[in-house]
Amino acid sequence: MNELGILIEGLSKRYGEGDAAVDALKDINMRVAPGEVVGLIGPSGSGKSTLLKCLGAVIEPSAGRMTLGNKTIFDNGWKIHDLRALRRDNIGFVFQAPYLIPFLDVTDNVALLPMLAGQSNAKARARARELLAALDVGHRAQAQPSQLSGGEQQRVAIARALANQPPVILADEPTAPLDSERALGVMRMLNQMAQQYRTAIIVVTHDEKIIPTFKRIYHIRDGRTYEEVGQGLCL
Ligand SMILES: Nc1ncnc2c1ncn2[C@@H]1O[C@H](COP(=O)(O)OP(=O)(O)OP(=O)(O)O)[C@@H](O)[C@H]1O
Ligand SMILES: [Mg+2]
Repeated sequence: MNELGILIEGLSKRYGEGDAAVDALKDINMRVAPGEVVGLIGPSGSGKSTLLKCLGAVIEPSAGRMTLGNKTIFDNGWKIHDLRALRRDNIGFVFQAPYLIPFLDVTDNVALLPMLAGQSNAKARARARELLAALDVGHRAQAQPSQLSGGEQQRVAIARALANQPPVILADEPTAPLDSERALGVMRMLNQMAQQYRTAIIVVTHDEKIIPTFKRIYHIRDGRTYEEVGQGLCL
């Protein structure tokens, strides 16, 4: 169930205490609907990574509320005991580098997390092949990661992020190392996957090539967010 996608209300994060305190997030309000891909843009030090780490339950916010899918995960304190299971089952991460496991073939890179979560190997691999096909890398399912191009590797990383059907995907500069055509290809796939699986996706980016693809953009500056209507370029 993913009725709400991502909802962030009045989120703040203070690092450190006293004179050394840094208010990295002051009053963050964001909403990403199921099936929507939004951009998050801001200068260095504006709080982008801090926000993704809070949403990904990697660090604890200082105050505010976060809802993922149909669960309030934080409301002035964690509302979930097992944060590791929360991350595994509810959040897919895509990074600038694909971080594939070099000694597993492409299928097992995608199937690994569901297997670790208790799914049968056969079922996890069947689902992995289905996702790889949807991302146009089905023909590379048996290859080793090192045999793939950068764009293909990034599509495998997206398949891996989708493997547990998380309601939420957090992507940090996913297209930075790719040329224009491949970067737009990755954005097309993220949009298609978001719609097909009702996933809410946040993409942190500086990449001018992909900014026109967003229908909605959040700018973050000095720990606060401002919403902007994007161009929503058809992919
Ligand atoms: N662990 C930490 N302890 C103290 N301050 C921190 C810590 N991590 C980040 N900060 C501070 O919080 C603010 C936001 O940092 P953050 O890493 O979220 O920025 P960013 O938008 O991701 O920047 P970049 O584009 O450079 O990656 C900055 O002022 C940073 O110095
Ligand atoms: Mg950062």
